[in-house]
Parts: sequence; structure tokens; C-alpha cells
Amino acid sequence: MRRKLVVGNWKMNGSLAQLGEVAAVAAAAKEAAGVDVAICPPFTLIASSVARSAGLPIGAQDCHHAESGAHTGNVSAGMLKEAGARLVIVGHSERRAEQHESDALVRAKAEAALRHGLTAIVCVGESEAQREAGDAVAIVTRQLRGSLPAEAGEGELVVAYEPIWAIGTGKTATPADVAEMHKAIRGHLLENFGDRGGRVRILYGGSVKADNAAILFAFDDVDGALVGGASLTAAQFVPIVEAARG
Ligand code: 13P
Repeated sequence: MRRKLVVGNWKMNGSLAQLGEVAAVAAAAKEAAGVDVAICPPFTLIASSVARSAGLPIGAQDCHHAESGAHTGNVSAGMLKEAGARLVIVGHSERRAEQHESDALVRAKAEAALRHGLTAIVCVGESEAQREAGDAVAIVTRQLRGSLPAEAGEGELVVAYEPIWAIGTGKTATPADVAEMHKAIRGHLLENFGDRGGRVRILYGGSVKADNAAILFAFDDVDGALVGGASLTAAQFVPIVEAARG
């Protein structure tokens, strides 16, 4: 039985003043027994004592694959760990698009995160044109093959399925499409990682809100959500956490 995991991805939003939202989410998460909850704010807020004292796992939205060196502007997984991060999102579609990240690079980042005992959330997802062409499952399977590390390492591997066209648009994949894709991802995980693949949590992301979360969480292979916009305030995020309690 996999516990549900609900992760907030603040993207390039948030300030010290907004960390009160983390404290409010932490308070609600304590009540939501059986659900794991985490927030990934921008790098600059990870080490804040306010964020750390909230008692909620804090994560990052990216890491570099190398341990250290001449990589101006980048942050390594070890640095994140030292700053107090417990998890890191890698291969988000916004980074794949804006920073031209390849599957191979995403895999190297995930491996670096796992080496440091961080939970690595590896994101995959098709574009609208790819879905309309009927290629969604094939595209996501190809991304999984290229992006997932072969070895588990110290940390936990999590997969997030985020159809690109559903991110920040208010559109969500139909429950049937989500169920089909998560089943396909589970099949890939079992085929390639055996029993361990059965323990990997698969999150859905893309316009998850309080009013659609419960329907999505009801599917066997939907083990939680990666939430963007609705994670910025406790008022919108807490009902999603509550929906995960079932
Ligand atoms: P939205 O919830 O704002 O659609 O963002 C989803 C996402 O990209 C989470 O990583």
C-alpha cells in the first residue's frame, strides 16, 4: 500500500513573507494522518529557519548533476541537502522547455539527488499536439526510459505525470486519460524495476485543485499530486491534502 504524497511546487513565486503559508500547511498536514506533504519553494527560501521550523519536508525544484565545480548559477544536490532539502523535482516540463533539458540530463540529476538521499521527483508529460496525435503513452514511455535512474540509490524515486497542456491552464486530463497513463507508467516501472517499481509513487500534476483532486486520487495508481498554482496559499492547498486522506 503506497501512502499518498502531495507536493506543492511554488515555481518562481514566493518570498519570506509567504512562508506563513508553509506553517499553515504544516499544521493541517499534521491532522492528515497517512498523507505525506511537502513544499518546494524557490532555492532562496529552502534554508530559511521559518521554512525549516514548520516541520514540513521542504524540497527544491531542480539540482545540478555534478557535485561541485565551474557551473555558474547552479546548485548541487549535496548543497540542497545541506540547506535542509529533503526532496527535489527534476525534469519539470518548464525546465525541459526553457533550459532545453534532455532525458539524459534529467536522469543524471535524479541520480545525483538519490546519491544524496533526497527524494527525486522525475517529471514526464506529453504536449497537446502529441496527445492529439495519439502518441501520449509512447512519448511518456520514452521519457521514462531516458530519464529514470537504473539504481535506486539512497533516496526515494517518485514519478510525476504532468501533461504539458494541463499545466497552469485550468484544463485537466480526463480521469480516464489519467488512469490510463498512470497504469502505463506503473507497467513500465514493474517491467523495469520489478517489485521496487510497485513501490514508486506516481503523482499527477496539471491544474490540480480542491474540486478535482478527489476524483483523481481515487485511481489505484494515482499516488498523489504535484500542485503548482493551488499550492501557493494554504487556503487552496489544504483541501487538496484533505482529499488525499480519502
Ligand atoms: P499548476 O497546478 O499550476 O497547473 O502547475 C502544475 C505543475 O506544473 C506542478 O509542477
